[in-house]
Amino acid sequence: MCGIVAYVGHRNAQDVIIKGLKRLEYRGYDSAGIALLNNGLNIYKKKGKVSDLEDHITDEALRSTIGIGHTRWATHGEPNDVNAHPHYSYSRKLAIIHNGIIENYSSLKKELLKKGHEFLSETDTEVLIHFIEDIWENNNCTLDEAVRLALTRVVGAYAIVIMSNDNPDQLIAARKGSPLVIGVGQQEYFMASDATPIIEYTKDVVYLNDQEIAIIDNGQLRIKTIEDAPLTPYIQKLELELEAIEKGGFDHFMLKEIFEQPKSIKDCLRGRLDSQANRLVLGGIREYVNKMMNAERIIIVACGTSWHAGLVAEYMIEELCRIPVEVEYASEFRYRNPIIREGDVVIAISQSGETADTLAAIDLAKSKGAIIIGVCNVVGSSIARASHAGSYTHAGPEIGVASTKAFTAQLTVLSMICLIIAQKRGTITDQAFHRMLVELETIPDKVESVLELNDKIREIAYTFKDASNFLYLGRGYNFPVALEGALKLKEISYIHAEGYPAAEMKHGPIALIDEEMPVVFIATHDSSYDKIVSNIQEVKARKGRVIAVVTEGDKLIPQMAEFIIEVPAVQDGLMPIVSVVPLQLLSYHIAVMRGCNVDQPRNLAKSVTVE
Ligand code: G6P
Repeated sequence: MCGIVAYVGHRNAQDVIIKGLKRLEYRGYDSAGIALLNNGLNIYKKKGKVSDLEDHITDEALRSTIGIGHTRWATHGEPNDVNAHPHYSYSRKLAIIHNGIIENYSSLKKELLKKGHEFLSETDTEVLIHFIEDIWENNNCTLDEAVRLALTRVVGAYAIVIMSNDNPDQLIAARKGSPLVIGVGQQEYFMASDATPIIEYTKDVVYLNDQEIAIIDNGQLRIKTIEDAPLTPYIQKLELELEAIEKGGFDHFMLKEIFEQPKSIKDCLRGRLDSQANRLVLGGIREYVNKMMNAERIIIVACGTSWHAGLVAEYMIEELCRIPVEVEYASEFRYRNPIIREGDVVIAISQSGETADTLAAIDLAKSKGAIIIGVCNVVGSSIARASHAGSYTHAGPEIGVASTKAFTAQLTVLSMICLIIAQKRGTITDQAFHRMLVELETIPDKVESVLELNDKIREIAYTFKDASNFLYLGRGYNFPVALEGALKLKEISYIHAEGYPAAEMKHGPIALIDEEMPVVFIATHDSSYDKIVSNIQEVKARKGRVIAVVTEGDKLIPQMAEFIIEVPAVQDGLMPIVSVVPLQLLSYHIAVMRGCNVDQPRNLAKSVTVE
């Protein structure tokens, strides 16, 4: 987590960096800081948001053409002014920004304390810059060599940028495990955790790889490995447009992203699916389809919302392809000595493509001979690059911390992967395959029609905005939707919410139900419809307040529920793409009514690059 930005060139570095930090705030917003060269190396930092930092420095005359900035999600040390980045070295000649964790910082710190170093903060980052300076002074080498030597002794993850008091034209950056993009402009360079702070200045970028060091000095960019082997920078063209990362008239990015779903799902299908020609192609996995269809089992690894998408995929792949599937939290998978056999297929799902646990799970599975298929949203991200093959979700940048359009795009890609394998294996009839293609093409319109219920959902939200607890219940394909609905609500409104398989409610959560408890049923017309109707009655019998997402035309549930939200009929496996949308809107409106910061909920970060 944490977002970093750096600039060197001819512009006012402060403006570029502050604007860039605002774009990266989704990565963390506990504190923010900036270092500039103006009459010496000066650091300004503040607990809180980037706007607090901005207020803090408004009176200063900060003309500098070089600088580094940081927005933090605290790992070591509480979020306060002192622990905020950048950090000075001991002599204050160097400043550093860092995204990641230095795991062996305490042993390095002990070494440095013995040498008389004093530390101002509790952070691992301050230790790292002291360590670099110590090597620099004692080895009489260049600064970039000192950085390199220091990094050979560092255990952990990092994207760092360092600037020096002595050199107004130099930035040194390195990465291992945390992302770093370099923008190459005319006589100027940008560095950032993702491309959003860069796109309005240049579309030429270099993605730094793990174990690489970038040195910008006197207008030149050099890259070398941590083993000191020089590399030629590989410049790529960004395909991102500026409008994609702006709010476009919506009050919040989350609302914009919810409303973008008909388009993002269409973008995800474009060029891949043609129902008239009965054609479904995912270019990125084409060469691996045979391996996937012959897999003895498929393991899905992911975190958070992406894990919920994995659960839906499990149900669908097992039903349509008849291949056993296991869905694993990446954080558990990587540490529990799982059985992975050569030829197993691991599908890694990640919006950001940077989630540390998912990346580590991939590395583990790869080392045991598994085939890795990545389903990522961010093009060029670490997970996309670590996978053998994969399919992008093409949802466009998702900036609201709570994932919405990325989830529905993940479901769309996963259903396409499933259908391709099922067709190859002959476990789906031609008619059923064709029906699913036709259905997938209609999904964007169906989502559009759910979005038209926004006003009604806002009214429901008003009724329940002061609730302290919520239950979300679903069965079959709608069980993961219940989990996702509950997650959305707790993430952004801080209301305690739990998702449960509706029948499992009887084994515990039913004890919570009273006249105060809103219970959201996702009860669309599918094979478990009759069963879920019974579950609604069980809740009603205990005076719970029922809100039900039902299929249009349902006659029975409206007689039982206090509120109903009607969604169009959809084939079973694809229903979650539609039935989750009203739950996204419900959480959004409740959070807004409670005065919560919807796009930047407390304690969360969008891209979790620490384990
Ligand atoms: C964080 C985000 C979630 C996301 C999860 C996994 O917790 O706040 O929205 O689902 O990470 O992220 P990924 O980028 O791997 O999908």
